[in-house]
Amino acid sequence: MSDKKKVIFSGMQPSGHVTLGNYLGALKNWTDLQEDYNCLFCVVDMHSITVRQDPPTLRRLSREFLMQYIAAGINPEENIMYYQSHVPEHAELAWILNCFTYMGELNRMTQFKDKSQRHAENINAGLFTYPALMAADILLYQTDLVPVGDDQKQHLELARDIAIRFNNAYSPTFKVPEGYFGKAGARVMSLQEPNKKMSKSDEDENAFVSILDSPDVIARKFKRAVTDSDNEIRFSEDKPGISNLLNIYSAITGKSIEESEKDFDGKGYGDFKMAVAEVVIDELRPLQDRYKELEKDKAYIDGIIKENAQTASYLANKTLSKVQRKVGFPPKIR
Ligand code: TYM
Repeated sequence: MSDKKKVIFSGMQPSGHVTLGNYLGALKNWTDLQEDYNCLFCVVDMHSITVRQDPPTLRRLSREFLMQYIAAGINPEENIMYYQSHVPEHAELAWILNCFTYMGELNRMTQFKDKSQRHAENINAGLFTYPALMAADILLYQTDLVPVGDDQKQHLELARDIAIRFNNAYSPTFKVPEGYFGKAGARVMSLQEPNKKMSKSDEDENAFVSILDSPDVIARKFKRAVTDSDNEIRFSEDKPGISNLLNIYSAITGKSIEESEKDFDGKGYGDFKMAVAEVVIDELRPLQDRYKELEKDKAYIDGIIKENAQTASYLANKTLSKVQRKVGFPPKIR
């Protein structure tokens, strides 16, 4: 890692599929930014267990997520990719930060409110204190920039507040991180209920596109995407389905929304939906090809898992040991 470059940290929960929302809101930006930063991209399996998971599935998905990071174009030689549970410093710092996070702050988190409604039978303390673990993820590495989708803004704000609070209580310890939100892809909506964000845990398979979906499946899902009853391809608040499709098109092609609207001047919804499906299919094809190759190379992936966790742990310890000293834990005797 170069000392001159700034640091990026980001992660995804290995639950469900990596969706087009995760890809456009996060993964695509990670690949675009990787050369200019020292990057850590984590598979945050410890976050996933705030909701009950089937253990073999969690193990499988964690590996698949890591492989999808690589398939999307993250270079494993230059970036640190690892499982959160392999680097215990995350949990250690999370405990300390829990003691610097107020109940009132956690109570305001919209994701906690949402998830506790959806999982009313299991509103556990981990679900509640999850933002302190996320703050630990970020602050452990003196992170400058956190590329995420819009839905993580509130958590990131809290991580900043916790960093500032700690720095003020002791002395400058944590870098206060900034968020990075892409222009177009930061909020991809469900294809079936376009007022709701596209979510990897949606029970309706037609609501999201997985980045590993075959071209046929992608085409079918876009064909079924909910639109509206007029026939105008225009970005507008009262046209959430069409606006979402324009947004996806714009995020992939790099064209502005105005240019994207022009591309479909005089076209019908059917053609429009197929054109959006096509850019998505073309965008994901190389990723899917690389993924198939990676699946064959178990030893290569195992090597990355092992080495990257060691590097992450080494870096994390630099911050953790400072924090432990500042809060007054006695030094280890070596
Ligand atoms: P997660 O796993 O829900 O989502 C992973 C990333 O995808 C983005 N995202 C979206 N972007 C656009 N449109 C959508 N519909 C959409 N859905 C998800 C998310 O904003 C995120 O960037 N708490 C985090 C994981 C995390 C993390 C971190 C992220 C844990 N520690 C530290 C950054 C830094 C989460 O649950 O993301």
